[in-house]
This record gives sequence, C-alpha cells and structure tokens, in this order.
Amino acid sequence: MFELSEELTLVRDAARDFAERELMPRATAHDREAHIDDAVWKQIGELGFWGLTVPESHGGAGLGNLALSIVLEELNRACAATGVTVSVHNSLVCSPLTKYGSEAQKREWLPKLASGEILGAYALTEPGSGSDAAALSTRAVRDGDHFVLNGTKIWVTTGSLAGVVIVYARTNPDVAKAKGISAFIVPANAPGFKVGKKELKCGIRGSPAVELEFDNCRVPAANVLGGVDRGFPIAMDTLDGGRIGIASQSVGIAQACIENAVAYAKVRQQFGKPIAHFQAIQHKIADMQTRSDAARMLVHKAAWLRDRGEPCGRQAAEAKLFASQSANFCADECLQIHGGAGYTDHFIAERLFRDARITEIYEGATDIQRLVIARAVLG
Ligand code: CAA
Repeated sequence: MFELSEELTLVRDAARDFAERELMPRATAHDREAHIDDAVWKQIGELGFWGLTVPESHGGAGLGNLALSIVLEELNRACAATGVTVSVHNSLVCSPLTKYGSEAQKREWLPKLASGEILGAYALTEPGSGSDAAALSTRAVRDGDHFVLNGTKIWVTTGSLAGVVIVYARTNPDVAKAKGISAFIVPANAPGFKVGKKELKCGIRGSPAVELEFDNCRVPAANVLGGVDRGFPIAMDTLDGGRIGIASQSVGIAQACIENAVAYAKVRQQFGKPIAHFQAIQHKIADMQTRSDAARMLVHKAAWLRDRGEPCGRQAAEAKLFASQSANFCADECLQIHGGAGYTDHFIAERLFRDARITEIYEGATDIQRLVIARAVLG
C-alpha cells in the first residue's frame, strides 16, 4: 500500500505524462469554452483509460479500481473536467455493466465503452430526488418485450456526449421505495430519449451536466441490468465505486493546489523575501500536504478493498468525505497564498477553487457520506 507495484508505477507515469503534456496546457480553455475537444477523448482511448476496470476478455485493461484511482489523480491534477468524465465512465457505467451485466449485455456494450468508441453516463438524480435517491419518480412500464420510460433526470454528467446511459426508474410503485426500482441500459438513440438543458456551472465547466428527458422512451426488456426491481442496491454499490473516483479527483485537485501554491510562494516577494520564508505560509503548506497525503491513503485503501471484492461502502464514504474536504481546504489556502492575484484569471488558483467545490456535492454530498459512515459504525 505504501509503494506502487511496477505495473501501477508504469500506469501512473503514463497518466502523468499525458496529463502534463496534453491536459495541463488545455485545461484553462476547457474551462473558459466549457468544451473539451474529441481529440482529448481519442487520446484517452489510445492510453486504455476508458476501460481500466473492464476485463481484458471484454476489451478493457483489466487493471481495477486502484489503477483507476491512480490514473484519476493524475488526470484531475491537470484538468478536473476531463477527470470526472473518465471517472463517471469507468466507475458509474463500465463497472456496473461488468459486475451486473449478462454476458450478452457485456458483449454488446463493454468493448465500445472500453475503447472510447462511445462514452457512458449514469442517470439517477431527478428534480425531486437528490440525496433521497430512492424517492425517484421516473416510471418504467412493461409493454410486451419492451419497457416504456417517462420522466426527467438532472445533473447527468456526460449526458449530452454519451452513447449509453444507465437510467434508474421505478418499475413497481406498490412496494417500499427502494424495492421497486430497476436499472436500464438506455442507448442514446432510443426513441423518446432527449437531451435537455445544459447547466452553466461554477466549476468543471468542460464537463457537461445535462437534463435528460424520457418521453415514452422504449427500451428492450433485455436491457434491464441485474434484474427487475433490483436496481437500487446496484445504484448504491455503483456509487461506492464512484465515490472512490471522486475522492481520487479530490486528491488530484489538492495536489495541483499544493504545487501551484508552492511555486507562487517561492517567487512572490514581500517584506524583502519570498513569502515561502514566512511561517504563516509554511504552516498553510504543511497543513495542505498533510491532509492531501492522508486523503490519498484513505482513497487507496478503499480502492484496494473494492478490488478484493470486499464491502467498502464505509471506506469509500470516508475517502470521499475526507478527500473532498481536503481538496476544498487546499484550494482555499492556495487562493489565499496567491492573495488578490489568486482571485483573478492570472493564475489557475481560481479555477482550482471552483473545480474543488463540486467534490463535496456530487456522487453523495458530504452530509450523505457522514450518514453512510455513521450508519455503518452504529450498526
Ligand atoms: N451497496 C449495496 N446495496 C446497498 C448499499 C450499498 N452501498 N447501500 C444501500 N444498499 C441497499 C440496502 O441494503 C437496502 O437493500 P435491502 O432493502 O434489500 O436491504 C437498499 O439498498 C436501501 O438502502 P437504504 O435503506 O440504506 O436506503 P436509503 O433510502 O436510506 O438511502 C442513502 C441511503 C445513503 C441516503 C442513499 O439514498 C444515497 O446514497 N443518497 C445519495 C445519492 C447520491 O449519491 N447521488 C449522486 C448521484 S450521481 C451524481 O452525482 C451525478 C453524476 O453524474 C456524477
């Protein structure tokens, strides 16, 4: 755990090299233009990063969650909008398809997803159900060998770019709310599938978060993932993996904050010397480094447990809770060290500050991570 294997070191170096060469120079443009070029997605495909957790038998790298976490840290250190796209695709789409998909579903979807021929998205949240995910009201009604979906999803990361979306809908309204939900593999070209409004966000602006509308959307019954009415535990188990992804994103953002704060503190002169010579700045850097190191260990531990197939809901929640708070702490201190300049677009401190904020919100807000941890501890 304290030293990466040779294989993981090679994966990390490849991700770091790509992130420094290709993503860092473009990250500001991704943010300002709220767009990422297809060329970036293609390069990520060439590196095999769309299928990190997909088995080799289905076209992936078969490397697992620790490898994914390490790659995500590197990508997010350079560009969090790119990083979340890779995280959602791997952990919220490829992983549940690998774990719960039938052989036919895996053969149909995994090779295309693992190569990056298509991107994936995950649609759970609705206008009336955010933290209370089981309260969702999108309805799926059986019609012969199809289901017909009606409803609206919001905050669907990558929703406007995706070729396939895992959609959670209510198949049985007559049982307790978490018991009557199913997961559907919905191709973006399904009749009645519509991309709605794109949100104008505070950060990670290169990653589209959109509304999806299902207007009598017809999906083959063969596209139910993991069985009818069995969707909610799949959504939750999937989010355990997703939270490790967002925790990894947080570690990457924190790392970028430390590096940018240190670089600025060494050159910015006040009172006749670089501000790095002042204890007030040194204490900030020390706290940033300590929190980020501790966060990385929590994240690696949760990913390692998930790779072993052990329950990791609490550990994933701990990793996300602590890492996202650390990222926000580091982003705040990074901006503070930059002073007034940090509040302008002269430095990337302001983008890091905006990008960090979402890590405490999506894939389960900080308050929900505390709820998951407390329930596990209290029993
Ligand atoms: N793994 C497997 N099954 C699980 C599970 C897990 N981690 N957690 C719960 N379940 C199962 C339970 O065992 C239970 O099944 P049984 O009834 O068969 O025992 C069922 O799911 C219901 O569980 P709960 O009673 O715990 O459900 P709850 O209604 O109390 O909700 C919650 C729990 C933790 C609050 C949950 O609703 C939650 O995580 N909320 C946050 C939602 C969230 O993270 N949303 C983010 C969406 S994605 C996104 O952000 C956008 C994006 O694109 C990035």
